[in-house]
Amino acid sequence: MTKIKKNTAKYKLDAKERFLIETGVSDHNGIKPRMVKKYKQICRFTEILADKLQQSGAIKQKRVKVIDIGAGKGYMTFAIYNYLAKNNLDPVIHAVDFNSDLMKIGNETADKCGFENLSFISDFADQYAGLSYYDAVVSLHACDTATDDALFMGLKMKSKIILSAPCCQKEVLSSLKELKSLSEYYKHGLFLHKMADIITDNARVMLLQSQGYQVDVIDFVASEHTQKNTLIAATKKRGKQPAFYEKYQAYKAEIGFAGIKLEQMMLAEGLLE
Ligand SMILES: C[S@@+](CC[C@H](N)C(=O)[O-])C[C@H]1O[C@@H](n2cnc3c(N)ncnc32)[C@H](O)[C@@H]1O
Repeated sequence: MTKIKKNTAKYKLDAKERFLIETGVSDHNGIKPRMVKKYKQICRFTEILADKLQQSGAIKQKRVKVIDIGAGKGYMTFAIYNYLAKNNLDPVIHAVDFNSDLMKIGNETADKCGFENLSFISDFADQYAGLSYYDAVVSLHACDTATDDALFMGLKMKSKIILSAPCCQKEVLSSLKELKSLSEYYKHGLFLHKMADIITDNARVMLLQSQGYQVDVIDFVASEHTQKNTLIAATKKRGKQPAFYEKYQAYKAEIGFAGIKLEQMMLAEGLLE
């Protein structure tokens, strides 16, 4: 469907789609100016998911099951459901967020749009059990460690595809602030924040690789559409690769951060030795 390296979507949703109108992304004049950035993000994210479904062979299945972690108002969830339904992939999508008001509105909108197998569930990302298997786990700007919860869910059930655009990474930031060797020289908070983001996401990539995932890290949209434009795109390719966990441990020791929630969850689940 598309070349993953480019950060502009060829796939464009029709502004008249009912779900876009119901969620306030568009009206009779087209995409609302204040929603253009979100519109571009969801088109591009859907396009990349479609590409990964094709590559992984999931496109040949009669039914494709997806879970969206930290779904919020569900803009992306609806876009993915709409795409899968239009391509006869008989979607089942579960959208999880602890904001129960948004989940209620999401379910009402899904009903209005006739999206039968789309459910919005109010729960914490690390507590939701859901189905025993989803083909794809997605998250778009799920806050802080909710991204780790999404990645863990995919790793635990060996999902074919895990797509996650992380948001704020606070966990590693506190370790970095305590490191005298860094805080001595990095007087501008913004630099420390950017370093924490990169260190966290790189750690996530290594942990995904340790479980046999091939990982692409891309700017999924141009930075004018969101500054949080990094996408971790992982596809299950092989069995475990322990060398990546060894690398992760050396990386953690070298930088001096305490580790990330994803590692803790994987250790507790026995995914790492
Ligand atoms: C920045 S919003 C993104 C929403 C949506 N994915 C989008 O891109 O429009 C992050 C969402 O994650 C939810 N969230 C944050 N931490 C969560 C957790 N631990 N469990 C479930 N939901 C969480 C918040 O309630 C919020 O709706």
